[in-house]
Amino acid sequence: MPPTIFVIFGGTGDLNARKLVPALYHLFLDGWLPEQFALIGTGRTELTDEEFQKRMLDGINAFSRTGKADKDQWAKFSPHIVYQLADVKNAGAYQKFGTRIAAYEKAWKAPANVIYYLAVAPEFFPIIAANLAESKLADDSDRTRIVVEKPFGHDLDSSRELNRLLGQIFDERQIYRIDHYLGKETVQNIMAFRFANALLEPLWNRNYIEHVQISVTEQLGVGDRSGYYDGAGAMRDMIQNHLLQLLCLVAMEPPVNFTADEVRNRKVDVLRAMRRFAPEDVRESAVRGQYGPGWMEGQQVPGYRQETDADPKSNTETFAAVKFFVDNWRWQGVPFYVRTGKRMHRSASIITIQFKDTPHNIFPPETAESWQQNRLIISIQPEMSIRLQVQAKRPGLDMMLNTVDMVFDYKGTYTSEAPEAYETLLLDTMLGDQTLFMRGDQVEAAWDLIMPILQSWQGRASQSFPNYSADSWGPELAEALIARDGFHWFTLPLTTNK
Ligand code: BG6
Repeated sequence: MPPTIFVIFGGTGDLNARKLVPALYHLFLDGWLPEQFALIGTGRTELTDEEFQKRMLDGINAFSRTGKADKDQWAKFSPHIVYQLADVKNAGAYQKFGTRIAAYEKAWKAPANVIYYLAVAPEFFPIIAANLAESKLADDSDRTRIVVEKPFGHDLDSSRELNRLLGQIFDERQIYRIDHYLGKETVQNIMAFRFANALLEPLWNRNYIEHVQISVTEQLGVGDRSGYYDGAGAMRDMIQNHLLQLLCLVAMEPPVNFTADEVRNRKVDVLRAMRRFAPEDVRESAVRGQYGPGWMEGQQVPGYRQETDADPKSNTETFAAVKFFVDNWRWQGVPFYVRTGKRMHRSASIITIQFKDTPHNIFPPETAESWQQNRLIISIQPEMSIRLQVQAKRPGLDMMLNTVDMVFDYKGTYTSEAPEAYETLLLDTMLGDQTLFMRGDQVEAAWDLIMPILQSWQGRASQSFPNYSADSWGPELAEALIARDGFHWFTLPLTTNK
């Protein structure tokens, strides 16, 4: 690994303390960082290096997956962290970065890879990119990279504009658009599971699969994030990126090899093949919801409109469910139901592949204690597992069938702890591997797909909001969306989920 410098815009922000620095600390502990490594945090608060380091230590102590930082290790890691006061709108600030970078390179006697990380609100993306270019900090396309956090645009037009702007300064191979779901261990495993096992491929199509569900539910409410969330909503915040990326991983054709562009080409093929909605289809295929007040695990919680700084008449959806189709040979006619929501009964991200029923039942109905079509359930979080549900004979003298699970679960199989998504993604940024990042055309294709839904929802305020209470499974209409086709939303039993 060559010498590497991270310049983190938004260094004093939440993301840096909660995710980025704890991830870099773990990469350090596991020996992934080069010796010649520096993290320059930037922000508008006046702080000394020591004060900044202390904040980062607090972040690790509060949010690291392995608990409090080890004293000796922290003493070795913290000198790599420095702070630079900077107003990103002020061109002068960038000269200071240049000076710092040059000083490191001089001390190391080697040129460094420089990664500019935009952990700031999206309105600052263009100005930072422009200032980097202006101050000639982005001239070396082999050594500089830019990492862009979500949201990448607010709609199709703004995402195009942002792509255009970044494209004037950086080559696509320098741009790392983050979707942290792609870094999750279980999400990465979807590709391994599909393409490293021969037995699935013959079944992985419309001939054997009846429908697919992708459900990402969260118990958390919006809390104090209304400032961002009220202009976004569940469709933009979760479906445009995380859920559609999961769908792509399930639906994509096998890539020729595991290189970034090959994988991303196959994923963008899926997005392009997805059926577009005409405005009149939206009511049929998409459901929105907003949570009202209620109780969660014994605690009284406010409704969305009562959250800090929320608009008391907000029309923003905190729940969305959509029925998609992928119009290609493999998937024609197979519905993909996706749903996501906040303040739901349980936090669980699961993908369910339901196979078609047996063509003929040789067992009389009374032998089936429970009869269920085969299901493959990929549980992303909190349980990390893949289960195949099959029918089996219950032990006993009579022929009685019931459903059993064949389970691969991480806990029982591996002793090592899974890294956090950001560890994988930050390491890949350093290694220059873009496989788990969104390419510009993918982002635009995903926006293009959901624009009719966004426009329709924006155009008619919901009369029924709030339409689900905290600690529920979302609005009734979302049940109807899937029940109309004879299915229901699948959840894992609680015992396996907690
Ligand atoms: C973020 C969204 O991208 O993902 C949040 O902005 C959401 O609203 C979060 O809570 C969920 O991520 P995770 O990793 O907790 O499932």
